Amino acid sequence: MIKKYLMASLILGASALPGVAKSDPLAFDPAAFTQGEITMPDGENVAFKAYEGIFYVKNVEDSTYQTLNIYVPEKLADLPEVPILLRTYVGGYMASTAKAPSPSDATGRALKEGYVVCIPGSRGSNSTIERDGKTIYTGTAPNGLLDLKAAVRYLRYNDAVIPGSSELIFTDGTSAGGAMSSLLGSTGNCHDYEAALKKMGAAEARDDVFAAICYCPITDLNHADMEYEWLYGCTNTGVRNLSADQIVISDELAAECPAYIDSLGLREDDGTPLTSANYKDYIKKFLMASAHKALEEGCEIPDTIGFTFYQDKFGPMGGPSSINAPQGKPGGPGNGRPDEFGQGRPMGDDGRQAPSFGPGNAPRFNKTSDFVTALDLDKYLSYVATMTPLKTPPAFDQMGVLIETPSPENKVFGNEKGEAANFTDFSLRHRLHNDKASLDKDMVRRVEVMNPMNYIGTDHATVAQNWYIRHGAKDRDTSFLVPINLATKLKNSGKNVNFALPWNRPHSGDYNLDDLFSWISATINNTTGK
Ligand code: DHB
Repeated sequence: MIKKYLMASLILGASALPGVAKSDPLAFDPAAFTQGEITMPDGENVAFKAYEGIFYVKNVEDSTYQTLNIYVPEKLADLPEVPILLRTYVGGYMASTAKAPSPSDATGRALKEGYVVCIPGSRGSNSTIERDGKTIYTGTAPNGLLDLKAAVRYLRYNDAVIPGSSELIFTDGTSAGGAMSSLLGSTGNCHDYEAALKKMGAAEARDDVFAAICYCPITDLNHADMEYEWLYGCTNTGVRNLSADQIVISDELAAECPAYIDSLGLREDDGTPLTSANYKDYIKKFLMASAHKALEEGCEIPDTIGFTFYQDKFGPMGGPSSINAPQGKPGGPGNGRPDEFGQGRPMGDDGRQAPSFGPGNAPRFNKTSDFVTALDLDKYLSYVATMTPLKTPPAFDQMGVLIETPSPENKVFGNEKGEAANFTDFSLRHRLHNDKASLDKDMVRRVEVMNPMNYIGTDHATVAQNWYIRHGAKDRDTSFLVPINLATKLKNSGKNVNFALPWNRPHSGDYNLDDLFSWISATINNTTGK
């Protein structure tokens, strides 16, 4: 669809467009742009129109953060509907300003592809204003999310005048931003947010989105502590080296996790019910698939980190070649090549590592006959903990349990005065030394509206149909259960989910943009039939 506004606004001005009056503070002004350009890593210059510093609510509380920027490439993609990438730079649950596109992340790449880019700012745990001589914290949860939802509404409200289609919004974020993206994807048009959005003066428009791109989402916050300890408890006395007090907390938390897993009622692709009894095998499948893909792409995986490999071929030196060949399978111990694993090329990261079989260096991995056969999960988790020290228990709601320091999550669940707060009964009880203590009603509600798991598979919200979720195979900022549960619940509810734990990836986002943008393109084509 060629944008309707071009002709209409030239002839009549924006005020003539249906539903958006000129005096309307939420009306997008197509004439209010500057010209910009970025140079991509390959040297290509991508020119765009920049619409910056647009307030997306009528009742602006925090003018530093409640604005958005829109970038429209000079060369719009030749598609029936041009998508809009909505990228949030939220990190650490802190405030984030509206930013300019970057050549090195998905924003620059989207412009190069001819897509429209929107980069909203949003309030967060550290945003403050002065009112009546007092410092007010403006970004306590869920305010940052409300801002982002208001930004989506702004795009929808002005769909007739903003190039690109608000029916094709792809949200994108990393870590706390990945959590925000998952919330944008899962809470569309949900009544739970309505009153607050109205109060802010958000546009009267839908706020569901087409797709959510979530890199290492730090979410399901009220279960993340138990999930972390249930998974990583195996390292407590080893590499994690916890104190006796920490082990007590770790064990208490871990003990709560099986009931949570069982309560989710998740299923594997083949319909097998997932329970706390088979869940670790399910995690292993994702890690083994990740390792397998890395090997296919020419990466080297040490044989000391828990994987067992089967290699059905003979090595280039003529003798049996094997990577940990299991008993009874062809192969045997090393074949004299000192750089077989760990010494040669570095381990890859989700395909960015080009296979590099140099002269005289025969491929060592046969895509059709070699595979990863088993994983010692505890060994692999110890390896992850060796790469980056694990968080100490509780990993998220930590304030007042064994240390006083508030986590980013304690801060974002804090109050207007900037006082951090607990957001689980577990930690509150430990802090207050009171087994009967529980979160007050308002905190229960705030925690609830910050958890995408509460909306997926329900009829309370319009959940995005398309999801791209990544969590690095050595990312320990939250446990593997968080992204796996998210992806599985979405899949079980009939969504189109592209999920992986990319090999050798730490906590990071917007990597392997070729993979992301081919998924975006395929998703659009599947929908529009182009
Ligand atoms: C982020 C990382 C964390 O480990 C966390 O607990 C919260 C946020 C982040 O990078 O955004």
